[in-house]
Amino acid sequence: MIQPPRPRRRPRRLRSNPAIRRMVRETQVRPEDLILPLFVVPGEGVHHPVPSMPGVAQCSIDLTLPLARRALELGLGGVILFGIPAAKDPLGSDACDDQGIVQRAIRALKTALPELYVISDLCFCEYTDHGHCGVIAGGDVDNDATLERLGLSALSHARAGVDMVAPSGMMDGMVAAIRGALDRGGHPGIPILSYAAKFASAYYGPFRDAAQSAPRFGDRRTYQMDPANRREALREVAIDLEEGADLVMVKPGLAYLDLVREVRDRFDVPLAVYNVSGEYAMLKAAAERGWIDGERVMLETLTAFKRAGADLILTYHALEAAELLARADRSPVP
Ligand code: PBG
Ligand code: ZN
Repeated sequence: MIQPPRPRRRPRRLRSNPAIRRMVRETQVRPEDLILPLFVVPGEGVHHPVPSMPGVAQCSIDLTLPLARRALELGLGGVILFGIPAAKDPLGSDACDDQGIVQRAIRALKTALPELYVISDLCFCEYTDHGHCGVIAGGDVDNDATLERLGLSALSHARAGVDMVAPSGMMDGMVAAIRGALDRGGHPGIPILSYAAKFASAYYGPFRDAAQSAPRFGDRRTYQMDPANRREALREVAIDLEEGADLVMVKPGLAYLDLVREVRDRFDVPLAVYNVSGEYAMLKAAAERGWIDGERVMLETLTAFKRAGADLILTYHALEAAELLARADRSPVP
């Protein structure tokens, strides 16, 4: 029998026990990397679980507060608010109203928890009766008419005390319009996190139930990107940065990790990734059936976002992940 050659390289030396594995680990997920999305509805004592997103619920402001407090205690980066108004109309008026649902939520959170970092999603689809991300003209979203209203909405969020705005509607010129409105309105210090490369994705399905924002006609393909396009995503990021975006986002996450890496390598700005509702639903569904280990797959997924180059992760797992990380921290060797 011929002896195989003895390996000259033995990478397994650095995997031989938990202590050495921990020392050479290249990527860490920290609570401050995680942003928790919250769905806020009018009323009091309202807690409507979202069936396709176990652990996620639409909550009234009073029941949103404990979640936000928990986010702060666990050291999350912050929260991002989605408002579902009492009444929807063609313009999505509630989004621009100082007494609107998200404005009231911002005020309540920043009053009760001044240290909590509060981001607002800036779009119209939760507020319009037709469910599209802007004003409709001739059966499609009117880009420039929507820009003006995005400026008004951003200003209203700013007056309510928001820390950062995150426009998600994929309108051309949205970042410049919002930057201009905030600057002219006396809020030059509020940063813009642009959903710069946002794709027309079927992974948003459960979110549209959570936010009651499914379009009544057509789809979002005239404004959100074709999932097939990589070069175009890089152009979208470049445009938003020229317009003044402070941070950019790639969305969805798991099926778009190539773009997370590419944006990280090409642009020297903070990068966010959105671990979207469909990704969350798939993990939870498989875990509920016992087909995967939910906690381990969750941490592996979040680690993948960081490894691909994301700084921030918007994720419905934020609270459970931070709780798990805090527990793992206390045991000497995870
Ligand atoms: C609204 C918005 C959507 C999401 C975030 N902001 C839905 C959409 O574009 O249809 C999706 C988030 C998720 O799926 O978790 N513009
Ligand atoms: Zn929208």
